[in-house]
Amino acid sequence: MNGIITGIGSYAPRRRLTNADFEKMVDTSDEWIRSRTGIVERRICEDSERSSDMAMAAAQKALAMAGRNPLDIDFILIATVTPDFKVPSLACILQRNMGMANAAAMDIGAACAGFLNGLSVANAFIRSGQYKKILVIGVEKLSSITNYKDRNTCVLFGDGAGAAVVEASEEKNRGILSTFLKSDGRYAELLWIPDGGSVRPIQSLNGNNANIYLTMKGSEVFKHAVRMMGDASLKALSDAGLTSDDVTLLVPHQANIRIIESTAKRLGLPMEKVFLNIAMYGNTSSASVPMALDGALGQGRIKKNDIILMTAFGGGLTWASVVVKW
Ligand code: ACO
Repeated sequence: MNGIITGIGSYAPRRRLTNADFEKMVDTSDEWIRSRTGIVERRICEDSERSSDMAMAAAQKALAMAGRNPLDIDFILIATVTPDFKVPSLACILQRNMGMANAAAMDIGAACAGFLNGLSVANAFIRSGQYKKILVIGVEKLSSITNYKDRNTCVLFGDGAGAAVVEASEEKNRGILSTFLKSDGRYAELLWIPDGGSVRPIQSLNGNNANIYLTMKGSEVFKHAVRMMGDASLKALSDAGLTSDDVTLLVPHQANIRIIESTAKRLGLPMEKVFLNIAMYGNTSSASVPMALDGALGQGRIKKNDIILMTAFGGGLTWASVVVKW
């Protein structure tokens, strides 16, 4: 048994926040944001819109493409750093909202690498024979943990969701060919939310000087990101018995156009073989890869038997690559 992706779906909130909007909020410019990040606009939730709403919208599309209904799903994995509540998991909330009564459910915390961690866990469960129809989702309402007074971070992040249905298949040499996951907790404070966890609960700080927002040493994360996505991609390709020459399309985490270009260069891939949607959505963390995958499929850039290389890095630090034969 091996996992194959039978359905993909994504969702982006309607509201747009453009670079021009940021020029009115912090000391920045459209030129700086475009040239340093590749981002032109991002989608932002209304206050009333929840991560579970976005996850459901993406999941419904993925189920429709797979031709499955909610009761077919036996495991729900949601990668997110912005669940509706700390307890219970977002996966349990979505299970209730969609009536996926036959499933087990849990969340994965691996920041931007979360969706690829989810695909890897799903494939391992499928190979073990324990589950057969798994819903893997990456969803983020990053606007809820973004400090809109910090120009170093606020221009980068957006909201959205992407979902995949992964099913057990006996087809040889198709579907998820290899997965590679890695992390290095020594770099935990390069990208973190200092307050609001059990070390510094909000109530202990009385709201004074509490930093409950994503905080980042951007240029250091940048350096690690290029090395990590390149290394992970080469390892996943070699585990699948492939090289960069076999790759039809690279679907990378959409964090920064310069990180993506450097990764493509390291892999020897021309930019025509790289899918980009960062200009429209910014960095949506764990939603980024499945949103990009759905976008690539929608544009007809993925066909049967294509070799798709996905790669991501994020807070932790965590990084991952997955190779799929479509
Ligand atoms: N507008 C104008 N100037 C800015 C802005 C802005 N929005 N943001 C930072 N600057 C300034 C800085 O203050 C600094 O000024 P200084 O030299 O006077 O101090 C200058 O620009 C250069 O700053 P750097 O951080 O060195 O700029 P860099 O070229 O590295 O680009 C960026 C910054 C875009 C953040 C980049 O480092 C990056 O993309 N890093 C990776 C971040 C990332 O993708 N994290 C991913 C994970 S997110 C997650 O897991 C949820």
